[in-house]
Amino acid sequence: MPRAIISPSVLASDFGQLTAECKRMIKGGAEWLHMGTLSTALHFVPNITMGAPVLSCVSKGVPGIFMDCHMMVAQPEKWVNDIADAGGSLYCFHLEATSDPLPIIEAIHSRGMKAGVAISPDTPSAAVADDVAAAADMLLVMTVYPGRGGQKFLDRCLPKVTELRARFPDKDIEVDGGVGPATVDACADAGSNVIVAGTAIFGAQDPEGVIATLKATVNK
Ligand code: DX5
Repeated sequence: MPRAIISPSVLASDFGQLTAECKRMIKGGAEWLHMGTLSTALHFVPNITMGAPVLSCVSKGVPGIFMDCHMMVAQPEKWVNDIADAGGSLYCFHLEATSDPLPIIEAIHSRGMKAGVAISPDTPSAAVADDVAAAADMLLVMTVYPGRGGQKFLDRCLPKVTELRARFPDKDIEVDGGVGPATVDACADAGSNVIVAGTAIFGAQDPEGVIATLKATVNK
């Protein structure tokens, strides 16, 4: 299994101190920042979080950090250039938002970003075709319905991680939603190596300790 990567979800941070919050995470050992992004015009979930302008501020404020952009948007092909120009490192879009993922992956790679493909709780792992998974750099199995932080972890999503890990032993497989010290064991045992956590990290007294715990659990 690939090495552990912890990607704190910025959605759970104090947006009024965004760059300082990101610096705090990096100081705490985070190598990626999970930017739950969506546009105001064509979003795919019932709420609004942040867009490319916010991403651009963060990437200027913490240059060099890996920006793991989770695009919770309809028509994901529309935002590839904006996110690349704003400093995105990985562009992860939802399989449910397109009938033609391969050209989107190609467009993402053409802008020098890594490509991720996400599936929501009601989408089976079989929906990730072999050619799409082979073209993508990362697969994201949502363990909550996308949109908001602080939701309850959905155990029923974990078998999809196991199924995808069995098909793709060397691929980065990310979980996102309700993940923290109480649920990370099950995620690692299922085969996930990229852990997104928002509330569990940003809400902790000791974010550094939580990041270290999550990383050690995956690497065990
Ligand atoms: C919303 C975002 C998640 C969310 C995770 O779906 O994609 O990253 O912020 O927050 P927690 O870890 O609090 O569930």
